[in-house]
Amino acid sequence: MPGAPVAEPVEAPAPGVSRRGLLGFVGAGAAGLALGASAGLAGGIAVGRANAEAEAAASVYDFYGTHQAGITTPVQDHLHFAAFDMMAGSTRDDLISLLQDWSYAAARMTRGLEVSASGAVGGSPEAPPDDTGEALGLPASGLTITFGFGPTLFEAAGDDRFGISARRSPELQDLPAFLGDDLDPLASDGDLCIQVCADDPQVAVHAVRNLSRIAFGRARIRWSQLGFGRTSKTTAAQSTPRNLFGYKDGTANILSDDKPALTDHVWVQEADQPAWMVGGSYLVARKIAQLIESWDRVRLAEQNRIIGRSKGEGAPLSGGDEFTQPDFAKTDAAGAPSIDMAAHVRLANPQHNGGARMLRRGYNFVDGNNNLGRLDAGLFFLSYQRSPEQFVTVQRALSTDALNEYIRPVGSAIFAVPPGATPGSYVGAGLFA
Ligand code: HEM
Repeated sequence: MPGAPVAEPVEAPAPGVSRRGLLGFVGAGAAGLALGASAGLAGGIAVGRANAEAEAAASVYDFYGTHQAGITTPVQDHLHFAAFDMMAGSTRDDLISLLQDWSYAAARMTRGLEVSASGAVGGSPEAPPDDTGEALGLPASGLTITFGFGPTLFEAAGDDRFGISARRSPELQDLPAFLGDDLDPLASDGDLCIQVCADDPQVAVHAVRNLSRIAFGRARIRWSQLGFGRTSKTTAAQSTPRNLFGYKDGTANILSDDKPALTDHVWVQEADQPAWMVGGSYLVARKIAQLIESWDRVRLAEQNRIIGRSKGEGAPLSGGDEFTQPDFAKTDAAGAPSIDMAAHVRLANPQHNGGARMLRRGYNFVDGNNNLGRLDAGLFFLSYQRSPEQFVTVQRALSTDALNEYIRPVGSAIFAVPPGATPGSYVGAGLFA
């Protein structure tokens, strides 16, 4: 456990400098030579790919800032999400020290450093190392670590364990039950959450593993989820990825350069309550099983009707290309709506939800298979919104979604994600001020 003061200055390596480089095992020059040599052998396409990979690996997102990283940050390729419960008997001081230690470690790891200065091999040989070591030699890889607080942190069965129930956001309530929910309590809820995203899965897993280790004795993992393959984009420069039904996902998402939309729909504003949440957001996490074997037997035209967009281009069925606005009033030659009344994009669209929008940041998952030989797969849906009401409005509208026949929500959680920490402080400090 680092146990170091949060104010300890964290040295930022230059982009691309890895944990191993900092420890002096392999110089950046040697790594550069190796990259150059392999690129030279493989020709033009490989050079392009190597450059893109090097660029992704070199991405470093500051842990400190007005907002936490990992929301508008360009969506990375991999996710490791973990919900934690505080241990029975833990105190307010335990909670504060945990958030301080987590912030300290997160600020280091997001720079490509180990969790503490002595790290995996620099401490006493007679003690377990501070850092578990599996990310030695790997660059920051665009790592972001985003922390959230669940309703039960503020009050569990009427118990104000940490003396913060009076400061709870009135918005932070358990989500209502939705039609079709088949929720597993062991994949739902939690006192705290950590959303870890990175372009290298080993870097993401290392972060969750080490944060969980730091929490030992104060909090423990309640449930966790690995995700691969982003299902949205948060910048115009990112291509639109595809979900496990094979459709482009994230076309109509809120993007990081759309400041008015972020203000209106994502960030908690001064006018909202409570003050410690200003600059934060509410995170909804839904584990949605996709019945992919059933879906794979559906005719293409029917798949398109259910989504309301074409599989190839991702264009709305009312015409145009991927980025043409859907025309929900348009009808075909027979007078039927071009975009079906039960199509997912019709029901989810802001036009049908009083203008409600959200920033989606979900991932595909495959957790092996069930005993019928079917893939245990789906969408780990993550959305950020200024008020949970935005999600509730859209989810309720989806009660008649034609997609419902092929999906089953199996996990659900909501968290208040506080604003970003300032250097020398820790995430969520405003809650205890
Ligand atoms: C496995 C479940 C789901 C699948 C496969 C899925 C798939 C899609 C696809 C293919 C699109 C069109 C492309 C785009 O604009 O991103 C879309 C749009 C959208 N989805 Fe989903 N989705 C799922 C669940 C949800 C849930 C649970 C919500 C929120 C409650 C949601 C909200 C939205 C919204 C807001 C849009 C954009 C609509 C628009 O503005 O046109 N989706 N989804």
